[in-house]
Amino acid sequence: MADFRSEIEKRRTFAIISHPDAGKTTLTEKFLLYGGAIALAGSVKGKKTARHAVSDWMEIEKQRGISVTSSVLQFNYDGYCINILDTPGHQDFSEDTYRTLMAADSAVMVIDASKGVEAQTRKLFKVCVLRDIPIFTFINKMDREARDPLDLLEEIEQELGIETYPVNWPIGSGKEFRGVFDRQRGEMLAFTANNGQRAVETRELGLQDDALVDLIGEEAHRKLCDEIDLLDGASCAFDMQRVRHGKLSPVFFGSALTNFGVEPFLEEFLNMTTPPLPRVADTGEIDPFSSEFSAFVFKIQANMNRAHRDRIAFLRICSGRFEKGMEVFHVQGNRKLKLSQPQQMMAEEREIIDEAFAGDIIGVFDPGIFSIGDTICDPSKKFEFGGIPTFAPEHFAKVRQKDTLKRKQFIKGTSQIAQEGAIQIFQEPNTGMEEVIVGVVGTLQFDVLEYRLKSEYNVDIVMTGLPYQYLRWIENDDIDPESLKLSSDTKLVQDFKGNRLLLFTNEWNIRWALERNENLRLAEFGRW
Ligand code: G4P
Repeated sequence: MADFRSEIEKRRTFAIISHPDAGKTTLTEKFLLYGGAIALAGSVKGKKTARHAVSDWMEIEKQRGISVTSSVLQFNYDGYCINILDTPGHQDFSEDTYRTLMAADSAVMVIDASKGVEAQTRKLFKVCVLRDIPIFTFINKMDREARDPLDLLEEIEQELGIETYPVNWPIGSGKEFRGVFDRQRGEMLAFTANNGQRAVETRELGLQDDALVDLIGEEAHRKLCDEIDLLDGASCAFDMQRVRHGKLSPVFFGSALTNFGVEPFLEEFLNMTTPPLPRVADTGEIDPFSSEFSAFVFKIQANMNRAHRDRIAFLRICSGRFEKGMEVFHVQGNRKLKLSQPQQMMAEEREIIDEAFAGDIIGVFDPGIFSIGDTICDPSKKFEFGGIPTFAPEHFAKVRQKDTLKRKQFIKGTSQIAQEGAIQIFQEPNTGMEEVIVGVVGTLQFDVLEYRLKSEYNVDIVMTGLPYQYLRWIENDDIDPESLKLSSDTKLVQDFKGNRLLLFTNEWNIRWALERNENLRLAEFGRW
């Protein structure tokens, strides 16, 4: 039993969020390098050429050389077993990226030091806040000209509404980058650029050491002393409880490309994060250390292997131990089953696994029975984990089949793809299924839909873009939506569970609707 406990205790499951190009892939790659999971930095990356090596599951990824889907990377480092949930790096990301955060226990936010908070960081951050998980900040690319670090912190605080605690502080940037000063240890980590190799040298130099002045020069030293003074006086105290609840973000400066500050960051991060935390179910909190297995489905991936046309359901294990061939209970399907072909994603390949523990992610063969958010647990304990939110799409299009004789395949295809969570489908009230409104988080999903309908269901479609950008769920059951006072460019639709929703072209119209319809309550997230 001790073994079982220590297996779970050493697990750390997190996601890395960032705006494209901030350096998420480079940082992930360096992490993997420390864990010995890849032999050479560069094998995760080189996205223009071999990026698809990690997850070349879909033809479209290969064609475009981008990663559409997210995968999971597991490796060991310093006694920890680390699961990194990889979120698609492409600008045009999908709902999958959001959902991946549902399976994480913490998040690392990578920010480009010359750019600060960018659009995609902002969106992903919102989801982290919803989850109440710790968020660590890595301010990257300090080897390039960077913005003033105090400005960067202020921007994070103002734009994202989270307080910051700089664990280390940069000395210069770009050509003048000399390293970082570790505030907790009171020592300097010196930067020496040497072609992407380990570029770090720890010098135990206190703030007032003459050797530090010699190393960085008098002017930089004076500036550093002033800034450290300012931080000690003005920035908030380090409070682990606030970190755990995502109210305070520990901030680290570094340069992933030159491998500077990455290992100290990883070490502090592992130190400050916890093993898997309890998850809330309808029967109360489920203890990850309980001996009974439980998990939920957070992602469904079709067609990873084109030859087999299979579907893989990704499960986040929430408690206990998973063993190959064990019998489990699928709560939503109300039946016992054996999970077949349990797989784990190891950097570059899928491996059949024999066991896995709370905190781990496994992929299992899905014969079409699972939906996102489903609970799978020990047959002796039947409970349901809280649902996964449905994130509001931001792009909409009318979609119909070209050939009306293909109606059946069209309905089957769009419904199945929607069930996987790649797209959301809506209907105008009182219309048939020949034409649906498709909503996606990133426009690339439209291409994926078109491609998959053609290649898997043999259906050609006609797609017409719609001008809507915002979707809100109507929360009141007692409102007759036809009686609502809405601007002429607001559209009422319904989903296939009968929920009623409103499509808006801009935020102004949302406010307009709320002002003119006093009782109306609109939600930004739905439920699976
Ligand atoms: P992403 O996954 O967040 O999209 O970013 P990625 O790691 O792919 O990094 C984006 C670009 O930024 C890459 O350059 C990468 O080499 C560079 N980069 C990442 N970290 C650092 C850093 O600490 N310092 C500097 N100077 N550059 C960094 P690229 O030219 O777009 O790609 P490549 O040609 O190097 O593959």
